[in-house]
Amino acid sequence: MSITSKRELFDRELQKLYHAEIEILDLHGDLADAAASDEVRTIFAGHEGDTVDQIDRIEEIFAVLDMEPREQGSPIMEGLIAEKDQFVVEVEDDDLRDLDVINIGMINERLEITLLDRLILLANELGFPESTTMNLEENRSEAQTALERMQEFLEYQHVS
Ligand SMILES: [Fe+2]
Repeated sequence: MSITSKRELFDRELQKLYHAEIEILDLHGDLADAAASDEVRTIFAGHEGDTVDQIDRIEEIFAVLDMEPREQGSPIMEGLIAEKDQFVVEVEDDDLRDLDVINIGMINERLEITLLDRLILLANELGFPESTTMNLEENRSEAQTALERMQEFLEYQHVS
Protein backbone atom coordinates (compact mmCIF):
# COMPACT_ATOMS: atom_id res chain seq x y z
CA MET A 1 0.00 0.00 0.00
CA SER A 2 1.39 3.39 -0.87
CA ILE A 3 1.10 6.18 1.65
CA THR A 4 -0.01 9.58 0.40
CA SER A 5 -1.06 11.46 3.54
CA LYS A 6 0.04 12.24 7.09
CA ARG A 7 -3.04 10.45 8.33
CA GLU A 8 -1.89 7.25 6.62
CA LEU A 9 1.56 7.74 8.11
CA PHE A 10 0.03 8.11 11.56
CA ASP A 11 -2.03 4.94 11.09
CA ARG A 12 1.02 2.96 10.02
CA GLU A 13 3.15 4.22 12.92
CA LEU A 14 0.37 3.49 15.41
CA GLN A 15 0.09 -0.07 14.10
CA LYS A 16 3.87 -0.44 14.39
CA LEU A 17 3.81 0.85 17.96
CA TYR A 18 0.95 -1.52 18.81
CA HIS A 19 2.93 -4.45 17.42
CA ALA A 20 6.05 -3.33 19.29
CA GLU A 21 4.24 -3.07 22.65
CA ILE A 22 2.72 -6.54 22.26
CA GLU A 23 6.15 -7.99 21.44
CA ILE A 24 7.63 -6.03 24.35
CA LEU A 25 5.42 -7.90 26.81
CA ASP A 26 7.27 -11.11 25.89
CA LEU A 27 10.59 -9.33 25.57
CA HIS A 28 10.35 -7.97 29.11
CA GLY A 29 9.50 -11.43 30.43
CA ASP A 30 12.58 -12.86 28.67
CA LEU A 31 14.79 -10.04 29.94
CA ALA A 32 13.56 -10.54 33.50
CA ASP A 33 14.34 -14.28 33.17
CA ALA A 34 17.80 -13.58 31.75
CA ALA A 35 18.67 -11.03 34.45
CA ALA A 36 21.15 -12.21 37.06
CA SER A 37 20.24 -9.83 39.88
CA ASP A 38 16.94 -9.18 41.62
CA GLU A 39 17.46 -5.48 40.99
CA VAL A 40 17.45 -5.89 37.20
CA ARG A 41 14.65 -8.45 37.37
CA THR A 42 12.56 -5.94 39.34
CA ILE A 43 13.10 -3.20 36.75
CA PHE A 44 11.59 -5.36 34.01
CA ALA A 45 8.93 -7.01 36.12
CA GLY A 46 7.87 -3.56 37.35
CA HIS A 47 7.57 -2.19 33.84
CA GLU A 48 5.37 -5.07 32.69
CA GLY A 49 2.22 -3.58 34.25
CA ASP A 50 3.00 -0.27 32.51
CA THR A 51 3.26 -2.06 29.18
CA VAL A 52 -0.20 -3.62 29.65
CA ASP A 53 -1.57 -0.11 30.39
CA GLN A 54 0.21 1.24 27.31
CA ILE A 55 -1.43 -1.40 25.11
CA ASP A 56 -4.83 -0.43 26.59
CA ARG A 57 -4.16 3.24 25.77
CA ILE A 58 -3.23 2.39 22.17
CA GLU A 59 -6.45 0.38 21.84
CA GLU A 60 -8.35 3.40 23.15
CA ILE A 61 -6.73 5.53 20.43
CA PHE A 62 -7.80 3.02 17.75
CA ALA A 63 -11.36 3.18 19.12
CA VAL A 64 -11.47 7.00 19.26
CA LEU A 65 -10.18 7.21 15.67
CA ASP A 66 -12.62 4.54 14.53
CA MET A 67 -9.88 2.11 13.50
CA GLU A 68 -9.60 -1.64 13.92
CA PRO A 69 -6.70 -2.42 16.30
CA ARG A 70 -4.19 -3.82 13.82
CA GLU A 71 -0.53 -4.71 14.23
CA GLN A 72 2.15 -4.00 11.69
CA GLY A 73 5.45 -5.85 12.04
CA SER A 74 8.67 -3.87 12.09
CA PRO A 75 12.16 -5.12 11.22
CA ILE A 76 13.63 -3.00 14.05
CA MET A 77 11.60 -4.91 16.62
CA GLU A 78 12.46 -8.28 15.09
CA GLY A 79 16.14 -7.24 15.14
CA LEU A 80 15.96 -6.32 18.80
CA ILE A 81 14.43 -9.68 19.67
CA ALA A 82 17.11 -11.49 17.62
CA GLU A 83 19.79 -9.51 19.47
CA LYS A 84 18.30 -10.51 22.82
CA ASP A 85 18.19 -14.20 21.79
CA GLN A 86 21.83 -14.02 20.78
CA PHE A 87 23.24 -12.47 23.94
CA VAL A 88 21.19 -14.69 26.26
CA VAL A 89 23.09 -17.74 24.99
CA GLU A 90 26.43 -15.97 24.67
CA VAL A 91 27.01 -14.30 28.02
CA GLU A 92 27.71 -16.45 31.03
CA ASP A 93 29.03 -13.96 33.55
CA ASP A 94 26.20 -12.62 35.75
CA ASP A 95 27.28 -8.97 35.91
CA LEU A 96 27.92 -8.84 32.19
CA ARG A 97 24.56 -10.42 31.50
CA ASP A 98 22.83 -7.80 33.63
CA LEU A 99 24.54 -5.06 31.63
CA ASP A 100 23.43 -6.68 28.36
CA VAL A 101 19.86 -7.04 29.63
CA ILE A 102 19.77 -3.36 30.64
CA ASN A 103 21.23 -2.36 27.30
CA ILE A 104 18.54 -4.17 25.32
CA GLY A 105 15.94 -2.62 27.63
CA MET A 106 17.33 0.86 26.96
CA ILE A 107 17.33 0.43 23.18
CA ASN A 108 13.75 -0.73 23.49
CA GLU A 109 12.60 2.26 25.55
CA ARG A 110 14.38 4.67 23.21
CA LEU A 111 12.63 3.03 20.27
CA GLU A 112 9.27 3.49 22.01
CA ILE A 113 10.08 7.14 22.75
CA THR A 114 11.11 7.77 19.13
CA LEU A 115 7.91 6.21 17.75
CA LEU A 116 5.83 8.13 20.29
CA ASP A 117 7.48 11.49 19.55
CA ARG A 118 6.59 11.11 15.91
CA LEU A 119 3.02 10.02 16.69
CA ILE A 120 2.51 12.98 19.07
CA LEU A 121 3.76 15.39 16.39
CA LEU A 122 1.46 13.88 13.75
CA ALA A 123 -1.53 13.76 16.14
CA ASN A 124 -1.10 17.48 16.85
CA GLU A 125 -0.76 18.35 13.17
CA LEU A 126 -3.81 16.29 12.29
CA GLY A 127 -5.86 17.93 15.05
CA PHE A 128 -6.82 14.65 16.70
CA PRO A 129 -8.92 14.62 19.91
CA GLU A 130 -7.04 15.65 23.05
CA SER A 131 -7.47 12.18 24.58
CA THR A 132 -5.32 10.75 21.78
CA THR A 133 -2.41 13.09 22.46
CA MET A 134 -2.80 12.55 26.20
CA ASN A 135 -2.67 8.77 25.83
CA LEU A 136 0.45 9.02 23.67
CA GLU A 137 2.09 11.41 26.13
CA GLU A 138 1.28 9.15 29.06
CA ASN A 139 2.94 6.22 27.24
CA ARG A 140 5.95 8.39 26.47
CA SER A 141 6.34 9.47 30.06
CA GLU A 142 6.25 5.85 31.29
CA ALA A 143 8.89 4.87 28.73
CA GLN A 144 11.02 7.81 29.87
CA THR A 145 10.72 6.77 33.53
CA ALA A 146 11.70 3.19 32.66
CA LEU A 147 14.67 4.46 30.65
CA GLU A 148 15.84 6.62 33.57
CA ARG A 149 15.65 3.66 35.97
CA MET A 150 17.86 1.65 33.62
CA GLN A 151 20.29 4.55 33.24
CA GLU A 152 20.53 4.89 37.03
CA PHE A 153 21.37 1.19 37.29
CA LEU A 154 24.20 1.62 34.76
CA GLU A 155 25.61 4.69 36.53
CA TYR A 156 25.53 2.88 39.86
CA GLN A 157 27.35 -0.10 38.30
CA HIS A 158 30.12 2.16 37.06
CA VAL A 159 30.86 3.81 40.40
CA SER A 160 30.68 0.63 42.50
FE1 LIG B 1 8.47 0.35 27.76
